[in-house]
Formats: sequence, structure tokens, C-alpha cells
Amino acid sequence: MKAARVRLSDGEVAWVRGLHPADVPAVRALHVHLSDRDRYYRFFGLGPAGAAKLAAHLSDDSGTGHGALGCFLHDRLVGVAQYEVLEDPDEAEIALVVDAPTRAHGVATLLLEHLIDVAGQKGVRRFVADVLAENSKMLGVFAALGLPIRTSASSPERHVILSLDPTRDYRDAVARRAAAAAAAPPWPGSADGSAGCGC
Ligand SMILES: CC(C)(COP(=O)(O)OP(=O)(O)OC[C@H]1O[C@@H](n2cnc3c(N)ncnc32)[C@H](O)[C@@H]1OP(=O)(O)O)[C@@H](O)C(=O)NCCC(=O)NCCS
Repeated sequence: MKAARVRLSDGEVAWVRGLHPADVPAVRALHVHLSDRDRYYRFFGLGPAGAAKLAAHLSDDSGTGHGALGCFLHDRLVGVAQYEVLEDPDEAEIALVVDAPTRAHGVATLLLEHLIDVAGQKGVRRFVADVLAENSKMLGVFAALGLPIRTSASSPERHVILSLDPTRDYRDAVARRAAAAAAAPPWPGSADGSAGCGC
């Protein structure tokens, strides 16, 4: 996808785009610097070798059955969202991670909105995710998207199914989030549109 300019909820301007092989070091750094808890939430455990392999996979833009988007703030990678098409090509498994200092600014939500567009264009109709039941942040972000959602309550994980049919609720939620982000005052010195995506 072409880089998309987005506005975070604190007024900062960021960019969302597909990852490329040149992004491997940034993707690896993002995952290596996760706290133990975040690594557990994201992977249920991942060592440095796993991080290198994952970075190569996420940054590989040549495959057809998967895709990954990055969110860049001041040229720094602050979040990644990925999908992997499953045996049923209507379904893709998704996972996300956002750098801790940049959380609660809408990065995960914006990445998901763009991932929905990208995967939808490839024919994906449902996103699925296995999330630890205690990971209320991730479950909250999924629930707030505005898409029809089904969550199975088996402990310790929740199996989440999001239908990608763009319902009116979803379009309204996207518009509300965009309006909230646009209304937020820009931070002093924020790029606010003057800077391009140097990535
Ligand atoms: C879960 C995770 C990805 C969420 O990332 P995030 O960027 O902080 O998520 P968002 O900012 O989009 O959403 C967080 C909150 O901001 C709110 N928000 C999102 N966009 C907003 C906007 N434009 N304006 C105002 N608020 C907004 C959301 O509603 C949400 O509210 P809540 O805290 O009341 O639930 C992040 O915490 C993370 O990386 N955790 C560790 C890894 C992990 O758990 N991965 C999941 C594996 S599938």
C-alpha cells in the first residue's frame, strides 16, 4: 500500500505503510525491546532468535498469504500489525504490537483499520486472533473497532473472530475516531502535516 498519513489521538502525525526488507532492523528492534509481559501477551514467549526470524518474515513483501503494516512516528517504527491467511482463504490470523511509550494514542486501532483494507482487497473476510483473557487492552481495541465480533470464552485464551464486512457501525466508528483525532490539539512542535514520510 501507499504510505497513508494518519493523526494520532494526541495530535501527532504518523504514517502507516507496508513493511519492506529494509525494515528488518527496525522490526527486530521493536520486538527485542518489548517487556517480558508484552512479549508474553504477543507471543506467549519469544527469544532473540525468534525475533530475528519474525522480523525477516514481517518485512518480506513478496508473499501472497500474508502482509504486515508498520506505523512510523518521526521516522521511527512504533507499531506493527500482521495478517496470515489461514487454510480457509476467507480467514486470516492477526497479531499486533505497539511500542510501549506510544500506546493509547490510537496506533493499534489505525493499524487495524488499514490492515482491514489491505487484507479485504486480498479477499479476506474474517480476522481471527487468540488473545490471553487477561489482555484487556487488546480485547478492548478489537471490541471498539465497530466490526461484528464473536469472542469465545475458553480460559486462558480468548478466540476472537472479527467479520470484515464494512457495516454502517464500522464506518461510523472510523469517522468518529477520525473526528476525535482531528479535534485533538497538536503537541507543540508536532509535524502536523508539514513533514513527509521519510521512510
Ligand atoms: C494491545 C496493544 C496492541 C494496543 O495498542 P495501542 O496502540 O495502545 O491501542 P490504541 O491506542 O489503538 O487503543 C488503546 C486505547 O486508546 C483508545 N483510542 C484509540 N484510538 C483513539 C482515538 N483516535 N482517539 C481517542 N482514543 C482512541 C482506544 O479506544 C483504547 O481505549 P481503552 O484504553 O479505553 O481500551 C498494545 O497495548 C500492545 O502492543 N500490547 C502488547 C502486545 C499485545 O498484547 N499484542 C496483542 C497480541 S494479538
